Amino acid sequence: MESRSMLLFVLLWTIGGCEVRDLSGNQFTFPSDPRGVNQPHVVLRANTRSVSVMTVCLRFFSQLNRMQGLFSLATRDHSNALMLNKDAEGSYKVHAGDDTYTFIKLPTNRMDWNSVCWTWDSQTGLTQLWLNGLRTSQKLVGRNYPVRGDLSIIIGQEQDAYGSGFDKNDSFEGDITDLHMWDHVVSACDLRSYMNQGSFSPGNLLSWNNLSFEVSGNVFIQDADFEEPVCQ
Ligand SMILES: *[C@@H]1O[C@H](CO)[C@@H](O)[C@H](O)[C@H]1NC(C)=O
Ligand SMILES: *[C@@H]1O[C@H](CO)[C@@H](O)[C@H](O)[C@H]1NC(C)=O
Repeated sequence: MESRSMLLFVLLWTIGGCEVRDLSGNQFTFPSDPRGVNQPHVVLRANTRSVSVMTVCLRFFSQLNRMQGLFSLATRDHSNALMLNKDAEGSYKVHAGDDTYTFIKLPTNRMDWNSVCWTWDSQTGLTQLWLNGLRTSQKLVGRNYPVRGDLSIIIGQEQDAYGSGFDKNDSFEGDITDLHMWDHVVSACDLRSYMNQGSFSPGNLLSWNNLSFEVSGNVFIQDADFEEPVCQ
């Protein structure tokens, strides 16, 4: 290869990982990866350096019966700045700043999609989880905790360090679709709509309809089969 095309190749290879795409109707597939050799994950890029209020929604399908990370946002000084995990019993752990709260035993589908939304407001510390059209009561975590600086957002693995520190025992196995993140607490009506009809306005921090992402390891982009009920 002559040196000019070699340079071009290296350049394309380096920047080729990151893309911006409309993923409507698609899913990320994280197949079973018992050895976890290539630590499959997807890096998501949000156009912000601070989060003080947020809602994150996603749909996941997983038959796996152990702890797994659903959403992991790290800053350089806090690997669990904002984190959502699910465990074997269908309990969901949210982590904001130095606080965690575990919502226990929420009814979770093993053979169907689960639509989950998590809201958090650092001013009050109020946080709430929505699952398949139902909601929890509000809890307090991460009050006055500012999430600031370079954000590293990863799905498929859980970060124990900024952009790394993956533990295969916390990795995600299954499918993820319709991930959105907003810089405000989305209204109950819109969250119900996300869960029940699939219609909603896309996230302004992360949008599945215009997602900036980079896939790493055995992650596949396939058609999603989440069925949106047809409204008459
Ligand atoms: C992962 O899980 C296996 C099986 O339960 C266990 O033996 C191992 O110690 C765990 N690894 C870590 C790093 O926790
Ligand atoms: C999609 O995202 C890219 C980069 O993240 C941004 O530059 C562009 O304006 C966005 N497009 C729309 C239609 O929002």
